[in-house]
Amino acid sequence: MKQDLSDAKAVAVPAVPAPLEQIAPPLLAWYRACGRKLPWRSDPTPYRVWVSEIMLQQTRVETVKPYFARFIEALPTVKDLAEAPEEQLLKLWEGLGYYSRVRNMQKAAQQVMRDYGGELPRDRDALLSLCGIGSYTAGAISAFAFGLPEPAVDGNVLRVVARLTAIDRNILEPSVKSEFEGYVRAVIPADAAGDFGQALIELGALVCLPGRTESSCGDCPLADLCRARAQGLTGILPVRYKMQTKKEENRTVLLICDQSGDHVLLQKRPDKGLLAGLWQYPNEMGHLSPEQAAQTVRKMGAEVLAAEPLPAAKHVFTHLIWHMIGYRVTVKELPTACGIAASRQDLQATYALPSAFSAYRDKCLP
Ligand code: ADE
Repeated sequence: MKQDLSDAKAVAVPAVPAPLEQIAPPLLAWYRACGRKLPWRSDPTPYRVWVSEIMLQQTRVETVKPYFARFIEALPTVKDLAEAPEEQLLKLWEGLGYYSRVRNMQKAAQQVMRDYGGELPRDRDALLSLCGIGSYTAGAISAFAFGLPEPAVDGNVLRVVARLTAIDRNILEPSVKSEFEGYVRAVIPADAAGDFGQALIELGALVCLPGRTESSCGDCPLADLCRARAQGLTGILPVRYKMQTKKEENRTVLLICDQSGDHVLLQKRPDKGLLAGLWQYPNEMGHLSPEQAAQTVRKMGAEVLAAEPLPAAKHVFTHLIWHMIGYRVTVKELPTACGIAASRQDLQATYALPSAFSAYRDKCLP
């Protein structure tokens, strides 16, 4: 009997919006003429692409450049990363923030050593099974390093696609991201997957900027194809809103220094949770008075000689904001039962202090 296909349950796959079908030639020509020569774009091995893309999450290109060079020099292979001591890893990452990124990278490197003989796999699903690799990073490694037609859709690319298509749905919704990935996958040129992916990111970074940016449309190689521009919507697209608000906390940071000013007390944070396992200055919930700060240090077993206020500072994490005040508390002897005595040299070379404390970093030792 002949099968009636009209009865088959149809899965709605949205058609690729027309402008996207035409972007590859002008976009590639523009990227090859105007794209930045970035260290991870020359010699895009899977390892270099992986390291760079993890660093570039939440961090600006100019900031990443020296970190990338240092990291690749210190740990040039997946094996080196898998075997690196934690203190070295954290030191190489010091100042980039979001330390779970580098911890996950090390776990993934160990998986790659164990399951893939030290070579990152080409298969997207295999990449996705590695710790800390999501759809963007898997797409970036597949396209930039292996030349496979996989989409690498980050915030820049979501913005570019939302404007080109004038789609006004919330780009922070996972379903919208998947839909855009499908559109991009459908229009990747088979012979230029890497350049095409980099070009979309580059357009979002250099030309199709966030905010009300009609002025930069004059430089855009896709201006004639862009529906948002035609409809006067570049200033309001993409649509993005978050439901969640950040929790806010007051904290008091204590720089507990010995009389000579040579050493400061550091403590290791718990192995789980915020800034897990990193070193920190002791700190307490709430804004303490000078007397309360001195009392806290006395309870650690130290004789307090002075407590002087330090400037206030603020640090914004993903889900949390710290409003900090601080005190330099000079003590007769550091209470090393509650932490370790670190010299300036130790702070520079050995112990990774999270950026949250950077306002206080140099406030104690001469
Ligand atoms: N941001 C994220 N990935 C990037 C890349 N490959 N090049 C430049 N900026 C980026």
